[in-house]
Amino acid sequence: MPPASAVVRPYRPADRAAVYDVCVRTADAGGDARGRWSTDDLMPDLFAGPYVDLEPERAFVLDDGERVVGYVLGTADTAGFVTAWRTRWLPRLAGRYPEPPDPPRTSEEAMVALLHRPERMLVPELAAHPAHLHVDLLPPAQGAGWGRALIDTFRAAVAAAGAPGVHLGIDPANTRALGFYARLGFTEIAVPGATGVVYLGRPTA
Ligand SMILES: CC(C)(COP(=O)(O)OP(=O)(O)OC[C@H]1O[C@@H](n2cnc3c(N)ncnc32)[C@H](O)[C@@H]1OP(=O)(O)O)[C@@H](O)C(=O)NCCC(=O)NCCS
Repeated sequence: MPPASAVVRPYRPADRAAVYDVCVRTADAGGDARGRWSTDDLMPDLFAGPYVDLEPERAFVLDDGERVVGYVLGTADTAGFVTAWRTRWLPRLAGRYPEPPDPPRTSEEAMVALLHRPERMLVPELAAHPAHLHVDLLPPAQGAGWGRALIDTFRAAVAAAGAPGVHLGIDPANTRALGFYARLGFTEIAVPGATGVVYLGRPTA
């Protein structure tokens, strides 16, 4: 468990490798995804890198005094983020992850397809909740109130940037996180046709 002196603080570029590490260790429905994909960078390249590089002012880390043990990352404006992903993130990564066939033939190709289709994030039912987030803590940091602290910090940051609501997508197999978000006032947003993901949202205020 992080010491009481642990702090939630703004992200700094020097945190990038630690953020990548936390991401892959929590990317399998909340559990460790290391070794699951062809590279351990795949999950962070989809769910961490674009946020810290494109919108670092909305990224916050939990620092236990020695290292980063958790984070919340996201955007205040999903539509603007999608544009930034297509114009500034995809060109950096496309050589490393060539575009897979449509439809993808493997689960890895389905993941890489997410990189190439940022417009998948433009879901009409989510438009009233323009911010979205990802929150992850290493196991020793879980269950001590830091997840709530990170979400509260993010909500305040995106509310200040003008976002009235925040959403997230979650693997329905992650039952622990579903309980956490319900406790924090998130409710399901029905998105007809969505498969393998449940969308949750709440006002930022
Ligand atoms: C999910 C996660 C972010 C939650 O953070 P956390 O620090 O463990 O949760 P907290 O201790 O801040 O819990 C906040 C509140 O939610 C409650 N809560 C947490 N998990 C719960 C559950 N499964 N069911 C019901 N309530 C739950 C806590 O009791 C606490 O209530 P309180 O503040 O009213 O006392 C964290 O466990 C984690 O990083 N897990 C692995 C990665 C992951 O699954 N990320 C989310 C991907 S969508």
